[in-house]
Amino acid sequence: KKKGFIFDLDGVIVDTAHFHYLAWKNAAAIFGFELTEELNEQLKGVSRIDSLHKILDWAGASISQERFDAITADKNIEYLQYVQKMTKDDILPGVYDFVSKVKEAGFPIALGSASKNARAILAKVELLHLFDTIVDGTNVTKAKPDPEVFLIGASQLNCDPKDCIVFEDSVAGVSAANAANMISIGIGSEDNLGHATFVYQDFTYFPDDLLEQLTEPVNN
Ligand code: BG6
Ligand code: MG
Repeated sequence: KKKGFIFDLDGVIVDTAHFHYLAWKNAAAIFGFELTEELNEQLKGVSRIDSLHKILDWAGASISQERFDAITADKNIEYLQYVQKMTKDDILPGVYDFVSKVKEAGFPIALGSASKNARAILAKVELLHLFDTIVDGTNVTKAKPDPEVFLIGASQLNCDPKDCIVFEDSVAGVSAANAANMISIGIGSEDNLGHATFVYQDFTYFPDDLLEQLTEPVNN
């Protein structure tokens, strides 16, 4: 059966997770709330709107719809200022080599991201050509940890969900991959991503034969 590969974007392919954090930290400060890196883990993989809902919740603040829309818009403007400076040198270590190897081996590749900026970012770092399909915040109605984003990806790749392998840096994203019945590769720390099938600090920590391990049928 054909295996399919699905990659999250922010925090997996590029370090935009840090830019999201910086921009949300400033938004939270409007309510006198300090967004720590630890709490920020809960915002990873979460849509723009749900992120602000969580921050308001933590800050114990409530605002009008108008103000809500203004803050998410400003957050995105600040975020895009960081993104604008990105080049292909900002692709995280080991990512280009691994994804190219997957492509050369003939496996189909999808992006599975909650971001509405996904396409623009992939274009900026010159990676669009590696993806057979892009599922992002413009196609998805149910946010991670709902499996929708990855199930759409699998169907667009013409693969069975159980033959798909997801690369994710977020707690919600690993849960989404698991809920889709896929193999999940956590990128980051065991502390948050213990529910993933495998966890590696980053792509340079992959064993040399990871692709073979993931795609060769095991004989027993
Ligand atoms: C996810 C990020 O990939 O996309 C979240 O992990 C972010 O931090 C979400 O909020 C939505 O992104 P955007 O670019 O549409 O605001
Ligand atoms: Mg991510």
